[in-house]
Amino acid sequence: MLRVDELTFAHPGQTTPYVFSFTAAPGEITAISGASGSGKSTLLDLVAGFLTPGSGAIDLDGTDLLPLPPERRPVSLLLQSESLFEHLTAARNIALGLPTGLDRQIVAEKISAALTEVGLEGIERQSASTLSGGQKQRVALARTLLRNRAILLLDEPFSALDDETRVTIRDLVRALTTRHNWHTILVSHHGDDVEALASRRYHLEQGRLQAG
Ligand SMILES: Nc1ncnc2c1ncn2[C@@H]1O[C@H](COP(=O)(O)OP(=O)(O)O)[C@@H](O)[C@H]1O
Ligand SMILES: [Mg+2]
Repeated sequence: MLRVDELTFAHPGQTTPYVFSFTAAPGEITAISGASGSGKSTLLDLVAGFLTPGSGAIDLDGTDLLPLPPERRPVSLLLQSESLFEHLTAARNIALGLPTGLDRQIVAEKISAALTEVGLEGIERQSASTLSGGQKQRVALARTLLRNRAILLLDEPFSALDDETRVTIRDLVRALTTRHNWHTILVSHHGDDVEALASRRYHLEQGRLQAG
């Protein structure tokens, strides 16, 4: 269980700080809705460790995440789009960020297995620049599979996709969350993404999260 408790933060010039409290369960998608500018990305940046809170706690199954720098947190982040390097192949994009010194053959096999799991079998050597928006999000999800972190943060991940692709990528996120027991946190201002995916919901307004 991920517990975020009374996490406070204010951007420079912000008079009333955010105070974030919520829980997210393994194998479930926790959705956070809220208007543009309400603080959704700020919340994810705090969980990922890119921002440092004034006070409060982030606890994953008894481990305090706050002392950990971003690269040591059990977190993967998937953004709206453009999270791939266009001039690199799908396989290279997935391999980026893995620890160095791993056996190359084993890494290559894991990359192929991850591509198969996201429905992109055999595209290892294809350049990212030749992939569609939906395929890029699948490659990004394959990368999270290799990282295999307990928390997956999704920041408006479907916004750039057409309706049909959006539905298939949503289904994939749901299937991967269940299969790998991820604590998936989806922020979105699209009601139907939340409707389709959320086991647990919060609404962010005036700096606070309301359950329901
Ligand atoms: N680095 C920053 N410095 C100052 N203000 C910021 C910074 N980043 C975001 N903000 C402000 O904080 C508020 C919340 O931003 P954000 O978390 O990106 O909202 P959302 O993701 O819900 O659209 C906005 O008013 C935004 O202008
Ligand atoms: Mg945002």
